[in-house]
Amino acid sequence: MNDAGKAVVEARGLFVSRSNQLVIEDANFTITEGDYVGIVGPNGGGKTTLLLAILGVLPTDRGEIRLFGEPLQRFRNWELVAYVSQDATSFDSDFPLSVRELVAFGRVNRSNIGRRLRQEDWKAVDDVLETVGMSGLSAHRIGQLSGGQKQRVFVAKALVRNPKILFLDEPVTGVDAVSQEKFYRILSDINLSKGITICTVSHDLTAVFCRMSKVMCVSREVNIADVSDLKEPGEFLKKAYGEHFRFAFHRHECEGVFGNG
Ligand SMILES: Nc1ncnc2c1ncn2[C@@H]1O[C@H](COP(=O)(O)OP(=O)(O)OP(=O)(O)O)[C@@H](O)[C@H]1O
Ligand SMILES: [Mg+2]
Repeated sequence: MNDAGKAVVEARGLFVSRSNQLVIEDANFTITEGDYVGIVGPNGGGKTTLLLAILGVLPTDRGEIRLFGEPLQRFRNWELVAYVSQDATSFDSDFPLSVRELVAFGRVNRSNIGRRLRQEDWKAVDDVLETVGMSGLSAHRIGQLSGGQKQRVFVAKALVRNPKILFLDEPVTGVDAVSQEKFYRILSDINLSKGITICTVSHDLTAVFCRMSKVMCVSREVNIADVSDLKEPGEFLKKAYGEHFRFAFHRHECEGVFGNG
């Protein structure tokens, strides 16, 4: 899917270590404009490490990363890139900020810091809250929200800057299956209607295979495939989860769980 499109993220011969332990070994992949990528793999497999390397937060040992065709070292267009971290939603619940105010922080940048936001900024905030289905709770304090609602608010904060690519590190706890399904449906809508490339860590393999265009398996090795090309997802996933891993997936299951396709 999207093979003719523009490369948004490229990794070639990429090695990344943490505390002198090799975590990512010889990764080679391309993410193309418009992709919706599910990043999967066992705990400790290196998903967060890989994202942080792509974002230039962690140094790499060897190899090359390109963002929008530009080598990472020279890349400056960070307003095109948005990131929601794995622990974004687990902050102090007494934080005295409304949903709308938190999302408005996403509009602050180097050129407008310290100055009042304009009407157009607040319009962008309200539009994006609508997109993630949180308009009704915009005056609520962020600490009053459920895990799933917080997750959507942090996506709104990331999106309000109009990025071209959104990286998400899924929080593993605190979000129930129904909310998680709703969340992936919202991301699908954003991917399709706004053409934003999305790369999200996910522990929900059914959601990945039903909703997303590519699956990236990370467990030291990195393997990527078009979901539509994978005849046996279970076999592909074994590379990351081990020989004993079982995942039987049948496309018709998506119609039941993911009613509106
Ligand atoms: N701050 C850190 N300092 C040193 N080593 C770390 C640090 N964070 C993670 N690691 C190590 O790097 C490896 C990869 O961790 P990483 O957090 O990237 O995995 P992950 O796939 O995101 O796991 P999870 O699904 O639990 O979020 C692990 O062996 C981990 O112990
Ligand atoms: Mg992680």
